[in-house]
Amino acid sequence: MNTTKTITLAYTGASGMPYGVRLLELLLAGGNRVYLLYSQAAQIVAHQEMQLVLPSRPKEAEELFSRRFNAAEGQLRVFGREDWFAPVASGSNPADAMVVCPCTMGTLAAIAAGLSQKLIERSADVMLKENRKLILVPRETPFSPIHLENMLKLARSGAIIMPPNPGFYHHPETVQDMVDFVVARILDHLGVAQSLMPRWGEQN
Ligand SMILES: Cc1cc2nc3c(=O)[nH]c(=O)nc-3n(C[C@H](O)[C@H](O)[C@H](O)COP(=O)(O)O)c2cc1C
Repeated sequence: MNTTKTITLAYTGASGMPYGVRLLELLLAGGNRVYLLYSQAAQIVAHQEMQLVLPSRPKEAEELFSRRFNAAEGQLRVFGREDWFAPVASGSNPADAMVVCPCTMGTLAAIAAGLSQKLIERSADVMLKENRKLILVPRETPFSPIHLENMLKLARSGAIIMPPNPGFYHHPETVQDMVDFVVARILDHLGVAQSLMPRWGEQN
């Protein structure tokens, strides 16, 4: 039985890029196909937080991450911000699920308003209209009433709102442990097998 999935993963310019990069690593390691999208602000934040240069040319990013994470030929595809011919742009070819991680308040608002002006927003819009899983990992603190109203609207429209709030009951010792806590929860919601974190009640 083929249990691998096609996942659209979008990075936007919120703090939390290590979550997004770790998620990409584990999705690829699990044999899943990934369509990767990222905003201009995500390029700035990736450099600020991880000294990671996200190339402006999608093909270069494809090569960079495929090499870094040992992806199979064609397993990772990266699309430009206005590549309206990308499969993710249409409801006739939606991915199994989409994750926006990290998700800015700006992109969250655009999705909530149905703007679809950039490919990330459009792909998210497609997931909602096609009743596919859309996971948003919004990062801001504190949340304003506008942020909260947008999140409520999206949750009522079928999106899963998963703020990257690490728990402490597993006694994290490193930043990586905290990143993995959040990423494990996202993978669980995607239905992608993970061995980062035992589920509650399954600890040995
Ligand atoms: C280092 C850095 C950290 C940022 N962190 C956040 C954040 O945590 N949440 C947020 O909503 N915006 C954050 N921003 C602002 C967004 O990047 C900015 O609003 C941008 O226009 C969002 O564009 P995008 O949604 O297309 O990525 C940050 C910007 C920078 C440079």
